[in-house]
Amino acid sequence: MIRAPRFPGLESVELYLKLENLQWTGSFKLRGALNCIAHLPDDRLRRGVVAASAGNHAQGVAYAGRAKGIPVTIVMARTASPLKVAATRSLGANVILEGSNYDEAKEFALALARREDRAFIPAFDDPMVIAGQGTVGLEILEALPTTAAIIGGVGGGGLLAGVAVAARALGGPKLRIIGVQPAGVDSLRPALEAGRVVTVAPPRTFADGLATREVGRLPLEILKAARVEGWVVDDMEIARASFLLLEQAKILAEGAGSAPLAGLLNPSGPLPEGPIVAIISGGNLDPFVLDRVLWYGLVAEGRLLRLRTLLRDRPGQLNSFLEVAAREGANVRQIHHEREAPGRGPTEVRVEVELEVEGPEHARRLLDVYRTAGWGVETVPLVADLGTEPPRAEPPSSRK
Ligand SMILES: Cc1ncc(COP(=O)(O)O)c(C=O)c1O
Repeated sequence: MIRAPRFPGLESVELYLKLENLQWTGSFKLRGALNCIAHLPDDRLRRGVVAASAGNHAQGVAYAGRAKGIPVTIVMARTASPLKVAATRSLGANVILEGSNYDEAKEFALALARREDRAFIPAFDDPMVIAGQGTVGLEILEALPTTAAIIGGVGGGGLLAGVAVAARALGGPKLRIIGVQPAGVDSLRPALEAGRVVTVAPPRTFADGLATREVGRLPLEILKAARVEGWVVDDMEIARASFLLLEQAKILAEGAGSAPLAGLLNPSGPLPEGPIVAIISGGNLDPFVLDRVLWYGLVAEGRLLRLRTLLRDRPGQLNSFLEVAAREGANVRQIHHEREAPGRGPTEVRVEVELEVEGPEHARRLLDVYRTAGWGVETVPLVADLGTEPPRAEPPSSRK
């Protein structure tokens, strides 16, 4: 656990980060898998285990199985990220690609486990898995007994349920426990209100670790009894949190791992008073998604400026235009110089240039300098489209 840097807007908060992204396999998931497998009787253990997963649970079970020297079969949907499939195989698991989504993969895995009489390792709705994930909570309170609040992401709820048991036992009744979900998977708040499992439409979020259609029955019971609060953030807020973690804390967090920081930056309720611990639950971010997160973060922080202008079609004009940016310390990222652009006269060219700037203030200063010097410049809005889920190879018609 480390003390967090002073994130914008949270300067006065005593914030700590529990770095599960640094675990072997890149997430906390090996805790529950190890505990579940450690409690299997020897004769069951020898037959090996089966699990279904979209990614992190797969790697956790594969790791735990290898540690115990038993055969592991993981069923992943045909749409699973190739990187996560490769990572699971590299841990020695037999990976079967079956079904077009997690639910179908799970059905197949359950049938396989029954047919071969092998133990199925659930992803969250299981007391041993929950207890294993709960060691995150034990460690937090051991490291910081004065913890006033713990905030973590919720998919099926196994992680936060385990943490809640530990935190209530060691941290007392006043400790706040906050579960964060992406707006596209808002299943915790209605379930806490209704007091029963609520299933939402197939989730669309780039935080794939939290893209579970419902909080499990046992996790929900525990979360309810522990008086856990449900907070919601949108994908853009999660992406900005990933960006800030990377830039300011040097921490690579996937969407599920940065959702708690996104919650603190955009709280659904009053911010806790006293030391807060955010669980950075995983760091397995697809590089193509990381690319979009960086782009979005730069746009959200006002660090990119796109300008459009019309120049006279004469040698040296572009040079003079760019010299202004250079003098003001703005670096060129992209440039388009279009002689055939619509709306220009026969002696003009349209130039669109994207510049790296220090922030909104620097951008304003640069615009002032251009306009004061008589250049007709306009800004072009930058659209940061994050998409709603990691890129997949499936055709649009098979998407759920
Ligand atoms: C990185 C990460 N964080 C959080 C979660 C959510 O855990 P749970 O399903 O136990 O709520 C997951 C689940 O896959 C995950 O991979």
